[in-house]
Amino acid sequence: MIYVENVWYFCIFINRTIMVKKYLYNACLLIVLTFLLVSCGEKVVVDHYSIIPEPVMQTMGEGSFTLSSSTTCYAGNVGQNDPSIKYISRVLRQWHFNPVLVGKPESNCLQFIINEEYDQELGEEGYTVKVDKDGVVVAANSERGLFYGFQTFVQMLPEDINDVRYNKIVLPACNIKDYPRFQWRGSHLDVSRHFFGVSQVKKHLDLMAAYKLNKFHWHLTDDHGWRIEISKYPQLNDVGSWRVDRDNQPWGEADPAGEDEPRTNGGYYTKEEIAEIVAYAAERYIDVIPEIEIPGHCCAVLESYPELACANDDTTYTVQFGPYWPPRAILCAGNDSVMTFLKDVMDEIIPLFPYNYIHIGGDEAVKDNWKRCPRCKQRMKSLRFTDYEQLQSWMIVEIEKYVKRQGKNIIGWDEILEGGVSPEATVMSWQGTQGGIVAARRGNDVIMTPTSYCYLNFYQANPEFQPPAMPNSLVTLDKVYKFDPMPHQLTPSQQKHILGGQANLWTEYINNAEMAEYMLLPRLCAMSEVLWSQPALKNWERFRAKVGHHRIRLVANDYKVGTGSFRPWASFEKQEDGKLLVTLDWEVEGTQIYYHTGDGHFIQYREPFEVEKGTTITTLSFYHGMMKEKAYEIHE
Ligand code: ACM
Ligand code: ZN
Repeated sequence: MIYVENVWYFCIFINRTIMVKKYLYNACLLIVLTFLLVSCGEKVVVDHYSIIPEPVMQTMGEGSFTLSSSTTCYAGNVGQNDPSIKYISRVLRQWHFNPVLVGKPESNCLQFIINEEYDQELGEEGYTVKVDKDGVVVAANSERGLFYGFQTFVQMLPEDINDVRYNKIVLPACNIKDYPRFQWRGSHLDVSRHFFGVSQVKKHLDLMAAYKLNKFHWHLTDDHGWRIEISKYPQLNDVGSWRVDRDNQPWGEADPAGEDEPRTNGGYYTKEEIAEIVAYAAERYIDVIPEIEIPGHCCAVLESYPELACANDDTTYTVQFGPYWPPRAILCAGNDSVMTFLKDVMDEIIPLFPYNYIHIGGDEAVKDNWKRCPRCKQRMKSLRFTDYEQLQSWMIVEIEKYVKRQGKNIIGWDEILEGGVSPEATVMSWQGTQGGIVAARRGNDVIMTPTSYCYLNFYQANPEFQPPAMPNSLVTLDKVYKFDPMPHQLTPSQQKHILGGQANLWTEYINNAEMAEYMLLPRLCAMSEVLWSQPALKNWERFRAKVGHHRIRLVANDYKVGTGSFRPWASFEKQEDGKLLVTLDWEVEGTQIYYHTGDGHFIQYREPFEVEKGTTITTLSFYHGMMKEKAYEIHE
């Protein structure tokens, strides 16, 4: 932003007329000044745009457009009652722009137009935005495209638009054309390890919409709580959704549960709440994929209905409130009532979720109980299976067939490949990308979400300076940014099976919404650019600078944003004399790096420097005078 004009004249007027009671005058002035600063008309000139994800094409033009209270809105062939236009009007009203809807395009107008002729290049999700002296035209082939065009337009407005009441916003002329690289741009949220309420989930969906993410993977069941109302099995909610409260103790160091200790931690979504969230997501063009874990990660089920465990499993299962490893709880594959239970659950899940995928889990199921269970052994025998992975596969395929009859496809974690998988199942590759590669070669659709790039519950920076997260983990912002979901060893026809990728947020260490946001941001911005933008347009320097602006925007929108990684990284360039020219770089702009090369005397890094090969470089990082990274060693 270049400048802001405040309106002071009113204050001067007051100064001349209210002279009698000075204290009263002072009090009035304070109130008026506060009012003016918080809410009164200001003009702002936007000097550049920082759009995440990076659009396919963005060119700046001549001149500018001034958005003001006299700007009108033309919803043309979309119609003012269209949900996208209603959404757009609501957002603009929130910022005190309440454009009058006009019947035809005119100057000083925001236009939202569905293309008369389908633009093949834009496809279903693409859009164009044109800003010139007459106004802004957002155009797309579909309402979904218009919605994304509007999200881009929002990012063109000042970062503090939520806090400051601008009456004039000067937008430089530009032309944007944009469409996504991948159709699956996912964000996962585990609400079992910790429960997040309806408003928190909605805030997560808002974030997704702002960054053009379109698949919300909702991890609803696990060892630590069952989170969705199931009428036929009320114990799932009366028992399985609740556990003793240990949120004030570190995960993994919680006191054991007392006998008869009240279960006060947890919750579940009623069917009405699920419907509310699904509708909220749909308004933002986000599809919701519920995950119901089969056959493992089921302590909450087995405490609710112990008879669904294996025949001679005498474990007393309880909803977990700390680490549960190895996850031995497993539904009995030899018990017909388990299959009935799962089908009944699916019967209640399916009508709640209009999108055509149900995630059935399938990960990390330890099969020890099956190996000891006479019913599971009997099932193995009758199906002539030779290993227990086949038994898991059988169970999943049975459920797959059942949900398919109701028009749904399944997604499973990559373990579903182990005992054989049906060709129609979609595989979520989390243990690296190899599972996804194998699946794509077999003709299965794939969503890439390898831990090393996509697990946003991993530390984002030096654990010493971070709130607790998954031990021994690190996924920095630049690591996420380097992710490419497309394996280049696949043939073009195999590559068509890579639907896209996803960021996952497991919540063992995340027990409140602020912490969830802190872990998601700014890394979700990187994931958005990975999944939407063309690879040739990825540019770390530009992205890092944009993140600086988005931090301000996100904080103004009441999101908590992670402070980032202050660990420097080095590149080495061999010189003619055999020495190495060292360039240091880092994630967060404004970081000061000090270094020494063996003598213990730290100097501030200002420009590339030469060292002998084999030198150890020790760095210290500061940000706003605070140490953020200690004694980090770099070698070549
Ligand atoms: C997983 O992280 N267990 C899918
Ligand atoms: Zn069994």
